[in-house]
Amino acid sequence: MCGIIGYLGYREAYPILISGLKKLEYRGYDSSGIAVFFENGYNLYKTKGRVHELEQKISSYRIKIKGTMGIGHTRWATHGIPDNINAHPHVSNSNELIMIHNGIIENYYAIKIILLKNGFTFKSKTDTEVLVNLIEYIKEENKLSLKEAVRISLNEIVGAYSIAIVEKSHPETIVIAKLGSPLSLGINEKEFFVSSDPISFIDYTKNVLYLKDGEMAILKKGKELDLRKIIDNHRLNPIIKQLKINLKEIEKGKYKYFMLKEIYEQPKTILDTLRGRLLIPEKIICINGIESNKNIFINAKCITIVACGTSWHASLIGEYLLEELARVRVEVEYASEFRYRNPIVGEKDIVIVISQSGETADTLAALKLAKKKGAFVFGICNVVGSSIARNVDAGAYTHAGPEISVASTKAFTAQITVLILLALIIGRYKSTINENRYKFLCEELGSIPEKVDYVLKTDDIIKKISQIYHNVNNFLYLGRGINFPVALEGALKLKEISYLHAEGYPAAEMKHGPIALVDETMPVFVIATKKGYYNKIIGNIQEIKARKGKIIAIVNEGDIQVNMLADHVIKIPNISEIFSPLITVIPLQLFAYQIAYIRGKNVDQPRNLAKSVTVE
Ligand code: AGP
Ligand code: GLU
Repeated sequence: MCGIIGYLGYREAYPILISGLKKLEYRGYDSSGIAVFFENGYNLYKTKGRVHELEQKISSYRIKIKGTMGIGHTRWATHGIPDNINAHPHVSNSNELIMIHNGIIENYYAIKIILLKNGFTFKSKTDTEVLVNLIEYIKEENKLSLKEAVRISLNEIVGAYSIAIVEKSHPETIVIAKLGSPLSLGINEKEFFVSSDPISFIDYTKNVLYLKDGEMAILKKGKELDLRKIIDNHRLNPIIKQLKINLKEIEKGKYKYFMLKEIYEQPKTILDTLRGRLLIPEKIICINGIESNKNIFINAKCITIVACGTSWHASLIGEYLLEELARVRVEVEYASEFRYRNPIVGEKDIVIVISQSGETADTLAALKLAKKKGAFVFGICNVVGSSIARNVDAGAYTHAGPEISVASTKAFTAQITVLILLALIIGRYKSTINENRYKFLCEELGSIPEKVDYVLKTDDIIKKISQIYHNVNNFLYLGRGINFPVALEGALKLKEISYLHAEGYPAAEMKHGPIALVDETMPVFVIATKKGYYNKIIGNIQEIKARKGKIIAIVNEGDIQVNMLADHVIKIPNISEIFSPLITVIPLQLFAYQIAYIRGKNVDQPRNLAKSVTVE
């Protein structure tokens, strides 16, 4: 996690670093810091808290920070609590080296012991301070240049990092390096921008180089970029790409929070995911990455889907879709579990990795493991050019546009949309869907954005329900079949941004344990769509009512039975059950938002979380 930033050029660095850090805060926001360099010296400020607190602290000193080179950091603590001392940048013992770091140095403790024996002392509890001192130690012991000392030190490191380091006596050079954590470089004729995410320098340049794992770069004022392999110092040819980000997409517009904006964007984002892929009049669905690997998909005996968090919930929905429409066996795995087992995946097997950010460390590691085992890896990512997108054999972007809020909403529905397309395409190839059903589903798929728009209009009802329940501490979410993962997702959304306890459960499984929690204070969301397991769900509702639980039901229009039983109903349009998660999740997203909002939480940046989990 965390965001790192750097600037080297002819403009004042300080405002560039601060505005860049604000754009990176979605990656971590428990402390922040900057260092701006001048001839043989630097100004370094850091503080616990958000970037605006850092800005306030600096302005309270009434100092003008001057300098055309600097580095900055917004932290998501892994080693040591968030406080002023553990905040980055970290400085080496001699005060000569100043460094920022994203990631984890796994063997930091062993290195720290060696450094302590050699007289080094440490102010912070971070692994980062160990690394900056290791670089100093290796540099001084062997009389090396900074670049060479960084390179040799990084070859001693186990873990993940992206770093930027500067030598006080050479404030015209920044050395950057990457393994496992993202790092991009913006390049103009006379300036370099370093960042965990190019979103932070898009105002200045569209020329971007994404560093690959195991690469480092030496950035020198007025000089050409020097890109090297960390392992052997081999010089590499930089491949510069053009960024395509629409700045409007990363503004809140009329909404108070990005989450609400992103929830409301879903009719458009689902349409964008379908655009050019679903041709309704012709009933054709085409995704290039699938079409060009048609035989692999037709012959697959099993598909494993790997992801984390909300993307894992989308994966579970993918399991129902692929089994139902393409009649293929599907396994869904948490990336963090998959990567440390010895999973049975071999050549010709398909592994699908799903990730909004395309940077999640565990998902990326799972991808690499699957490739090593010879599997064909297909990616479903939102962020174009992200690490996962660059490493898969083939893939499909979700095209949901930048998702800024930590709680994922539009990326989830976009992922489900891609999975629907995928299941329909494979089903068509394998003739596991008959012609009529296929045509009907193509038509119905095209109507989903409109239906989502309709559900968004239930917001007033949801606001009223939220007013009734915002003081309750426990919630249960129940669903069956393809709506069971939606129940999990509804509960996760509430937990993430309201810090309330919520559990998602398969409705029938409830009586094997969670029903013990139900009493007159317990609100229970039940997804009770007519085309699902309606009668069974009614039985489950009765079981809760018998224990005085409060039912908030999501029902289809025209529903009578559940309407009579439930305490509150949220009506949604009719749709085939396999497409229903795209509709049923919307009220749950809105409810989570309303509760967090009423409780006065920072909806977009909930405590302890970060948008992009680039540490394991
Ligand atoms: C979603 O609301 C969460 N913030 C989180 O579970 C997220 O889905 C997970 O970290 C996976 O992220 P990814 O899709 O970017 O890989
Ligand atoms: N491991 C470092 C720390 O705890 C960096 C964490 C991060 O990526 O923010 O400070």
